[in-house]
This record gives sequence, structure tokens and C-alpha cells, in this order.
Amino acid sequence: MIDETVIFEKMNETSLSHQQQRAFQPEKLSAPRDFSKPSILLSKDADSMPIIIEIGAGKGKHALSFAAAHPNKHLIAIERTRNKFEAFTKQAELKNLANLNPIHADAIAWIVHAIAPKSIAKMYILYPNPEQHNPNQQWLNMPFFEFLLSRLQDGGEIILATNIEAYMDNAEEQAKAVWQLPILRQTVASDSQRTHFEVKYLARNETCWELTMRKPEGYHTRFDDWVATS
Ligand SMILES: C[S@@+](CC[C@H](N)C(=O)[O-])C[C@H]1O[C@@H](n2cnc3c(N)ncnc32)[C@H](O)[C@@H]1O
Repeated sequence: MIDETVIFEKMNETSLSHQQQRAFQPEKLSAPRDFSKPSILLSKDADSMPIIIEIGAGKGKHALSFAAAHPNKHLIAIERTRNKFEAFTKQAELKNLANLNPIHADAIAWIVHAIAPKSIAKMYILYPNPEQHNPNQQWLNMPFFEFLLSRLQDGGEIILATNIEAYMDNAEEQAKAVWQLPILRQTVASDSQRTHFEVKYLARNETCWELTMRKPEGYHTRFDDWVATS
């Protein structure tokens, strides 16, 4: 007798747009403490205003200047370390930008619970700096990256920057071989000042790299219809 479940799973896997085998399990993640969705995600403005996400925003240097420079885009900037987040919110309160939501949370759990499929125009991951000896902490090595891609609109972009050449080499390789994404790899201009870490590395004459990954039209993941029930 033919096992229909196996056939269905095989069909599902072969129609995926990427080569990642191990699936992320969003249903296992509880919502972050004090979780609530920013009003932009509940309002109709979300349809007219591109929503951008920044993961690991630190003290918010990039988030604050990005939101000020792009009043027609809405930025949700997530940072999990309390003291950095407090420094960020202090500045955000002074600037009072209506198009910026600083969020204090782990970005993985928060995105799983807050973000609908195909709703994000762009994502920034600037200088994530994982422990060098733990490749599982690199964003493109994580099964969660498939979930992240499912939240991007077709044609949307993920921008990753790092000063660690081995991180950039691996990200480029994973983006092409596993995630099957068109990419652009560039060096960051030596006078760029987007983030506190970027300023620090460039002042030490280090090279910083940036990888832009674009989600092609019709890209298919296992989470394209998955929404949290929280
Ligand atoms: C090296 S710092 C860079 C901060 C900032 N992007 C910059 O370039 O100045 C990396 C930041 O990412 C944050 N981070 C790492 N993983 C995170 C996660 N899963 N959710 C939220 N923040 C995260 C850390 O707390 C840290 O502040």
C-alpha cells in the first residue's frame, strides 16, 4: 500500500525553493514576555508603508538615522540586551519618530509571533558577531533562516554586514548553495558610520563586508502559510 503522507512530504520538499533539510519548529517557541504587536502591524498602513526589520539593533545608531531619513518607511528594530536597549530607547524618546518601534526581545521568538508571511520589505542584520567557534549561531546556518525568508515579500532583501571574513565567506556560500538566493557582496565604504560597531571597526582600518540577498518571485518555504496563534 502507498503511504500518502510520505508522498505528500516528498512533494512538499521537492517544491521548496531551497536546499535546507532540517525544518525550524516555530510552534515550539512561546511568545516573548509582555508581547504585543506594534500598531503598524495591526493597521491598514501596513499595506501602504513598507515595513523594515532590524535584528540586533544595539544602541540604535542605524535605526534612529534610518527612521529619520525614511519617513515613508516603518522600522521595527529589535535588541535583546537590556542595557543596549535602554540606551536605544532613551535616544528614540528624544527623537520621537513615529515610524520607529524599538522592541526589547529575542528577535527569533518575536518575529515568529509578530510577523505575517510575506509582509516585510527589507531586513538588516548589522554586525551580528556570534561566538567565533559556534557556527550554529550564524544566521544563515540556522533553520530559522527559512522562517525569516518566509516573512519577506517577494523581491524583498536581507542585508547582512560583518567585519569577520570567515562569516562573510560562509554567508555567501550558504546564500547561494543552500538558500538559492541571488546575492551581491560588497565592501563597506571606509567612511561609513551606520552603526557603533561599524564605526569602531573602520576606525581600526578593518575591512567590513555587506551581503545583500534578494528573495526571488515565487520563492517557496515550508512556512508560507504559517501564522502564530498568540
Ligand atoms: C555586535 S552587536 C552589534 C550591534 C549593532 N548592530 C551595531 O552594529 O553597532 C550585536 C547585537 O545583536 C544583538 N542580538 C544578537 N542576537 C539577537 C537576537 N536573537 N535577538 C535580538 N538581538 C540580538 C546583541 O544583543 C548585540 O547587541
